[in-house]
Amino acid sequence: MTLAEVDASAWAELEGAAADPQSAFRYLNLCSVDAYGRPQARMVVLRRVDVARRVLEIHTDIRSPKWQEISANPLVTILGFGPQPKVQLRLQGSAELNGPASERAAEAWSQLPRSTRSTYMGGPPGDDISERPASESTAADADGQAVFGVLIFRAEMLDWFQLRHADNRRAVFAYDKLGALTSSRWVNP
Ligand SMILES: Cc1cc2nc3c(=O)[nH]c(=O)nc-3n(C[C@H](O)[C@H](O)[C@H](O)COP(=O)(O)O)c2cc1C
Repeated sequence: MTLAEVDASAWAELEGAAADPQSAFRYLNLCSVDAYGRPQARMVVLRRVDVARRVLEIHTDIRSPKWQEISANPLVTILGFGPQPKVQLRLQGSAELNGPASERAAEAWSQLPRSTRSTYMGGPPGDDISERPASESTAADADGQAVFGVLIFRAEMLDWFQLRHADNRRAVFAYDKLGALTSSRWVNP
């Protein structure tokens, strides 16, 4: 594989994963740094990919700690692993937060199935269940939409690593703000 082919295959995998719940890259690890400088990692669902712009879309509850962390520090890393072949994708970039009042969140919300919408109707993520308000059982669609946010991740760098029996391979790619590939190189694994 050439560097261009490695880059294209990585993004094709991600693009496919957004539409395929069985893909290994459907679930990614989103890592941010909290107010204490402590690394935080959590799995998220990859909802949409714009290959040309090198953008990944993730949905979350704006009451979750990650939303606060990322609004204070938008620099994030996204980590994924596909077992066949054994490929690690490590994407560095920044996240733009689109809150409930944004057009992007309204558009994404309008396309969510009812079952997914209902996951936003409970109490704040991480809060004690006993502290949930009694009104939760009557939570409506509007309550869910009021806390629904869309995180847009723009990749600035991809670190691709393939684990093989003897000859592991690793390549690093950089992208500009519009998503164009600006550099690519093989590096020691
Ligand atoms: C497979 C899987 C997928 C998940 N997808 C999401 C997601 O798309 N968005 C999200 O906010 N949380 C998702 N979660 C929950 C997060 O991993 C995390 O527990 C939660 O968002 C709270 O994170 P925070 O306290 O760092 O904000 C997922 C968890 C699992 C196990």
